[in-house]
Amino acid sequence: MPPLASVMSKSARHAAYSAAQAARVLWFTGHYAYGRRLMGPLTEPGAAPYAEEFGPLDRNRLKQAFRALFQRDWENIETGRYKLPIDLRRPPSLPKLWRQSRDYLRDAGKVARRKAARAHSEVYAGAQKEKFPRYYLQNFHYQTDGWLSEGSAERYDMQVETLFTGAAGPMRRQALPFIRKALEGKDAGAARLLDLGCGTARFLSEVKDNWPNLNVTALDLSPAYLGKACAALGRWKDVTYRQANAEETGLPEGSFDIITAVYLFHELPPGARGRVAAEIVRLLKPGGMLVQVDTIQYGDEPGFDILLENFPRGFHEPYYDSYCRTDLKTLFGNAGLECREETLAFLTKVTAFEKPV
Ligand SMILES: C[S@@+](CC[C@H](N)C(=O)[O-])C[C@H]1O[C@@H](n2cnc3c(N)ncnc32)[C@H](O)[C@@H]1O
Repeated sequence: MPPLASVMSKSARHAAYSAAQAARVLWFTGHYAYGRRLMGPLTEPGAAPYAEEFGPLDRNRLKQAFRALFQRDWENIETGRYKLPIDLRRPPSLPKLWRQSRDYLRDAGKVARRKAARAHSEVYAGAQKEKFPRYYLQNFHYQTDGWLSEGSAERYDMQVETLFTGAAGPMRRQALPFIRKALEGKDAGAARLLDLGCGTARFLSEVKDNWPNLNVTALDLSPAYLGKACAALGRWKDVTYRQANAEETGLPEGSFDIITAVYLFHELPPGARGRVAAEIVRLLKPGGMLVQVDTIQYGDEPGFDILLENFPRGFHEPYYDSYCRTDLKTLFGNAGLECREETLAFLTKVTAFEKPV
C-alpha cells in the first residue's frame, strides 16, 4: 500500500502537517511555561541592567519569524528538499510522551534550584577533571549532571524542544538543503560527513533518513550522549562513533566531504572555537564544506538582540554572549575557509563555508 501522504491532496497534506506541528508546539509551550514559572525571571532584581545598546524585544517580529520557520519547513518537505521528519510520519507513543514529560517536570525543580543558587560547577569534580577540559565541566543550562550522565542525555531532546517551544527540529532541518547542495553531482554513497558535537544525534538521524547510504561519523566528547546517539542511529549502517574532543579528533587529515556542527560553537570558549575551526580545515577535503548551525548573532535580527543578551543570564551559557559577538567569517576565514551562503531560521543561523581547492 502506498504511504498515506502520497495519496493525499496538497491541501490535506498541509492540514495534516499544520495540525501535527500545532500539537507539538502546544505540548512544548506548556512545558516551557511550567519551567519558566519555577525558574522565575531571567535576571534577578538588582542584577546588572540590560545592555542599553539594545531596544525592546520585537514580539510581533518574533511571532512572524516563528510562523515563517514552519512555513519554510513545510515548503521544503513539499518540494522534496527533505523528507517529512520521522516524528511526524507516525503517531507519537503516548507512554513515551508521558515518561518524558514526567521526567522533564521533575527535573525542572532541580534546574530552578540550581539557577537560584548559581550552581553551575557541580560536575567539576573528581576523576572527571582528568578526562575533560575545564570549560566542559559545567552545568550548562543548569542541567542536571552537565553533559555527563545517561539521565542528562535522555532528557536533552525534550529540554531543547521545550526551550524553543517546538522549533528546534525545524530550525536544525534548515541545514539539510545545504547538505543537499554540497552533495549535488556526487555519489552520496561515496561521500563522508562528520558531525561535531553530535549530542543525541537528532540532526544526524534526519541526515541518515534523507541520505541512508551517506557514510557518517558521529563525534561527541560525552560518552553518555554518544551512547544515546548510537541508540538513535542503530537502524542505519555506515555510521562510525567517536568519543573525542572536537579540538583534536585524531581523525585522518582530508577525510571528509562535509562537516556539520549544530549548536556546538556557542558552548565553546573563544580559544577552543579557533582550535575547532583549525581542526575542521585539517579534516576537510579541498572543496569540502562546513555547515555551521547555531544561534543568530547580534544584529542579525535587531529586534531580537535583547533576547540574545538575556538568554545566557537565565540559562548558564558562559560563552554565548562572546559567540554572539564573534564574526564568523573572521573565525573560519582565519582558519582557511571561505563563506559561501547563510540563512536565518527563527533563532538559528545556518552558514556554509568551503575549503578552497
Ligand atoms: C548544545 S549540544 C548540541 C548537540 C547536538 N548537535 C544538537 O543539535 O542538539 C552541544 C554538544 O556538544 C558537545 N561538546 C561540547 N564541547 C565539545 C567538545 N569540545 N568536543 C566535542 N563535543 C563537545 C556536548 O557534549 C553536547 O553534546
